[in-house]
Amino acid sequence: MERLSSKAEIRGAVLAAKREGKTVALVPTMGALHEGHLSLVEAACARAEYVVVSIFVNPTQFGPGEDFEAYPRDLEHDLAMLSAEGADLVFTPATTAMYASDAAVTVDPGPLGALWEGAVRPTHFAGVCTVVTKLFSIVGPDLAFFGEKDYQQLQIITRTVRDLDLPVKVVGCPIVRERDGLAMSSRNAYLSADQRVAATVLSRALDAAGALATDGGRDARAMTAAMRAVIEAEPLAALDYAAVVDPVTLVELDTVEAPARAIIAVRVGDTRLIDNMAITPGAER
Ligand code: PAJ
Repeated sequence: MERLSSKAEIRGAVLAAKREGKTVALVPTMGALHEGHLSLVEAACARAEYVVVSIFVNPTQFGPGEDFEAYPRDLEHDLAMLSAEGADLVFTPATTAMYASDAAVTVDPGPLGALWEGAVRPTHFAGVCTVVTKLFSIVGPDLAFFGEKDYQQLQIITRTVRDLDLPVKVVGCPIVRERDGLAMSSRNAYLSADQRVAATVLSRALDAAGALATDGGRDARAMTAAMRAVIEAEPLAALDYAAVVDPVTLVELDTVEAPARAIIAVRVGDTRLIDNMAITPGAER
């Protein structure tokens, strides 16, 4: 496994792989890697002969007062995990190499970027879209792998690729969870022991919504109420939002007529956690 930090070196390495006829995959990450990230690398290795992983804590997607400085960083550990997983190339750019000091042009995520996470983090998705578009431009992958863990991000990137005709295929991968249901996240490291136990409310709330659908329920507001009730029963958790939404437009639904998505954001202490689950309407009773 090779590690490179300059854009020119990355372009050269990928060009060489393409000349050998290899399919190139990119897995963008911010490091502090866990099994969730590794599942993307594994999926990429299964679909492509040359797998590039980027590790870059992107400052432009963090708002003022968010955790950019505190965000966990452990490059040596990340490199060991990626090497064991079979990645071919790791791209670790410095911030100054990624962004010119007077960089001013950005990618606008459109209306999807203002919903849900975007309502709480108004500049977040512009930062994500801009850095991901830059990574696509630097690496030039055939395939790019993203987790459903960040469901809104996955939908926005899919739209960015379509609307800007970027020559890459976006592949979404399922959420990897801890044994007790908590979705793996680099931010779980912020949780105290008590908070870590309380954090299972997200997946429990989503399960409650999913159970209504499995039982034949179609009332999205009842599913939302069920999620809210689970969160309210946990004293260490505070709900930011819970909703059942259209899986592409992310607009909130009243009735589930077709596959939908339950989405949830909860604060546990100072840590904001997000999760989501597919909602499949069951048979009519
Ligand atoms: P990061 O949070 O490091 O996540 C990198 C990728 O791993 C994302 O596609 C995310 O959805 C996926 N991922 C994280 N936890 C997961 C889990 N438990 N199961 C499955 N996939 C999981 O998302 C970002 O970084 C950044 O916004 C980035 C796209 C790299 C742009 O800076």
